[in-house]
Amino acid sequence: MADVRSMCAIGLRGQLGLRGGLPWEGRKEPEFSADVARFFALTRGHVLLVGPATKSSIPAFAYADRTVVGIRSGDDPASVIAAFPDRVVYVGGGPAVWKSYAPLIQHWDITRLPYDGEADRWFDPAWLTAA
Ligand SMILES: NC(=O)c1ccc[n+]([C@@H]2O[C@H](COP(=O)([O-])OP(=O)(O)OC[C@H]3O[C@@H](n4cnc5c(N)ncnc54)[C@H](OP(=O)(O)O)[C@@H]3O)[C@@H](O)[C@H]2O)c1
Repeated sequence: MADVRSMCAIGLRGQLGLRGGLPWEGRKEPEFSADVARFFALTRGHVLLVGPATKSSIPAFAYADRTVVGIRSGDDPASVIAAFPDRVVYVGGGPAVWKSYAPLIQHWDITRLPYDGEADRWFDPAWLTAA
């Protein structure tokens, strides 16, 4: 059975995304670059499930050492995960994906970054307790 995880970074009020990218894109402080590096280090070798917009923001190099799988709203979450037995599967967003897959996620890894600006995608704490 797959080990189903999720990793995301949020701003101080739960900001997740802005205009298709990360709200803090371009910020050079070490917290921000360390978070991106950590994401690629910890998902290496594993399966990463992503909605279409998130998939289009994944850099080409990331495909070399992880299994990136585009998922659609017509897919059944349990069946998608069942296709990867004995793998670590990261549910990579965006919000509609986390909402649907939340009941299947066993481990959440959330980094809270020092960003307090605008966003158009938000983290929902209800995902953590979805049954
Ligand atoms: N801060 C972070 O850690 C983080 C991580 C990931 C993404 N983001 C940000 O989030 C934004 C992208 O997210 P997004 O919501 O705009 O688009 P998205 O990544 O395309 O995810 C949402 C889409 O996934 C599809 N989907 C696949 N399986 C689904 C399911 N079971 N239930 C519902 N929908 C499902 C749907 O599209 P269809 O109906 O077309 O299939 C849905 O509209 C960007 O700004 C990105 O930077 C941030």
